[in-house]
Amino acid sequence: MRYSHVRNSPTVNDVIALVTGATQGLGLALAAGLAQRLGPTDTVYLTGRDPDKVKTAVQAIPNSGAEVRGELFDVADPQAAQRLAQRIKERHGGIDIVFGNAVMRIGPDDNPREIIDTYTQVNNFGTTRLLRAFAPLINDNGRLLIVASSLGTLHHLAPVLHQRFTEASSLDEIDQQIAEWRDTTKAGRVSAWPAFINIPSKIGQVAAVRVLAEERRGDLDRGILIAAVCPGMINTPTSALWWDVSTAPTPAQAAAKLLDLAQAPVKPEHFGELVRDGNPIPFRSADPTRARPGRATSG
Ligand SMILES: NC(=O)c1ccc[n+]([C@@H]2O[C@H](COP(=O)([O-])OP(=O)(O)OC[C@H]3O[C@@H](n4cnc5c(N)ncnc54)[C@H](OP(=O)(O)O)[C@@H]3O)[C@@H](O)[C@H]2O)c1
Repeated sequence: MRYSHVRNSPTVNDVIALVTGATQGLGLALAAGLAQRLGPTDTVYLTGRDPDKVKTAVQAIPNSGAEVRGELFDVADPQAAQRLAQRIKERHGGIDIVFGNAVMRIGPDDNPREIIDTYTQVNNFGTTRLLRAFAPLINDNGRLLIVASSLGTLHHLAPVLHQRFTEASSLDEIDQQIAEWRDTTKAGRVSAWPAFINIPSKIGQVAAVRVLAEERRGDLDRGILIAAVCPGMINTPTSALWWDVSTAPTPAQAAAKLLDLAQAPVKPEHFGELVRDGNPIPFRSADPTRARPGRATSG
């Protein structure tokens, strides 16, 4: 089955898709699902930071459907997103589906002061670099989706910090807020930032998507969806470090919901929003005093 948003031109109708952090977990399942749903003239770029893992992941995908091409892409490398975007542009002219999925795995025993540099480099600056590099390449009817989390809403953040993410109006300003959070964390200063660093990081990702979508609102008229997506809780080794996920959906099950969203006609109410199970989740909480930080079931 081909995607409903496949371009109709007889000369330019191959679908090009890319997934970051696709060597395991949800990313690998997204790449496998795309390969299965797309056709033999389509291409799925399965990307990761480690050449051996990329090769192993490509080999793990059954040889049917789209062509799966492994590509090195370390999202922490400040130049890598632009380099890869340039290569894709030269090879294909543009791209149809991008999933920004990569995440640095952390556990409860990690010291935030020691890991925050790499963590923000991968999860946040890596995301804004991906958005800057690939947004101009998205073809009509394309999808630019960042895998975030339901933890990425202001509901989970102290109200005194909200305006940092509601008043920022460019990706540079979002990066600035993330840099200030990183520096506060590194300095070990007492602050309103939550101890679970996944929360500000995911809020930063969602805020970045919101800002970009606002800048590129005209993309909606071209049938493009720019959105953050929450896969819900998944049974992966990363989430197992924090929660009992033994009964949570598998990566393949979680990926199917995100692929369904990518395949469905664009709903304007999804544009620039965080979408979970087909529904936008409000970024701003109606009543922050009712916030319940750190709910393990948020996903
Ligand atoms: N698991 C859940 O319950 C859950 C819930 C909500 C949201 N999410 C989100 O879903 C996404 C995937 O989560 P997951 O549980 O599947 O994570 P995972 O199993 O830990 O996989 C993370 C992927 O990111 C890659 N990665 C790490 N650093 C990278 C870098 N510098 N450059 C490129 N790739 C890099 C890893 O590569 P290596 O193989 O080289 O380590 C791996 O392929 C994340 O954005 C996560 O926040 C997950």
